[in-house]
Amino acid sequence: LPDWTQSVGMLFSLILLAPSWGGMINGVMTLSGAWHKLRDDPILKFLITSLSFYGMSTFEGPMMAIKTVNALSHYTDWTVGHVHSGALGWVAMISIGSIYYLIPRLFGKSEMFSVKLITVHFWVATIGVVLYIASMWISGVMQGLMWRAVNADGTLTYSFVESVKASYPFWAIRFLGGVLFLFGMLVMAYNMFKTIAGGRTVDDARVLVPAAHHA
Ligand code: HEM
Repeated sequence: LPDWTQSVGMLFSLILLAPSWGGMINGVMTLSGAWHKLRDDPILKFLITSLSFYGMSTFEGPMMAIKTVNALSHYTDWTVGHVHSGALGWVAMISIGSIYYLIPRLFGKSEMFSVKLITVHFWVATIGVVLYIASMWISGVMQGLMWRAVNADGTLTYSFVESVKASYPFWAIRFLGGVLFLFGMLVMAYNMFKTIAGGRTVDDARVLVPAAHHA
């Protein structure tokens, strides 16, 4: 691949920061003047936090596309961290918030079975993602530096296996973060099941169906 095509790829990745942050800022500013709602609405907490992770991962992406940065990050856990700040922090959390909003409406209930459990889910998921991506950042940069380290005589300072061994503690933290995130999803499944199975049913038929249909 000619070198200039890689440079064009890098340039367009850098440009991608603009539309991404446009969307992120637009989403966050939707709450302008209503920030107090975050205090007691855990669904809103999910939506706003997901936008923060979106902003973070779309800042990190263009940085990782810079060729000199990618020379360090490629093949390492740094990429894995980036993936999951996007996949768990952004995509999963915006989806979770949306589903919590939709479930009672889809099943004709006044609200979710437990708002407290949504709050529990929010904190477990957030702490899980943070542990996950922070451990991957650190092990990723460590792996990149270990692989490129050379002695004065030009030989490699570390063998590959040494970099694997050094990564173990970070993989343990990543595992803990993943378990927390999974636990949050189980809490959500329980809350959804209880909502659908029980709870007060809202009779909104008279409100939604136009008067002409009653005749
Ligand atoms: C402006 C936004 C973004 C840019 C410029 C960007 C750029 C990058 C770069 C440079 C890599 C590393 C490629 C490598 O070294 O192999 C990468 C990997 C990845 N990114 Fe992003 N990223 C962005 C946002 C996101 C978001 C929001 C998500 C998820 C929702 C995401 C998901 C991924 C995935 C899954 C990979 C791993 C690909 C693989 O290794 O096969 N990215 N991205």
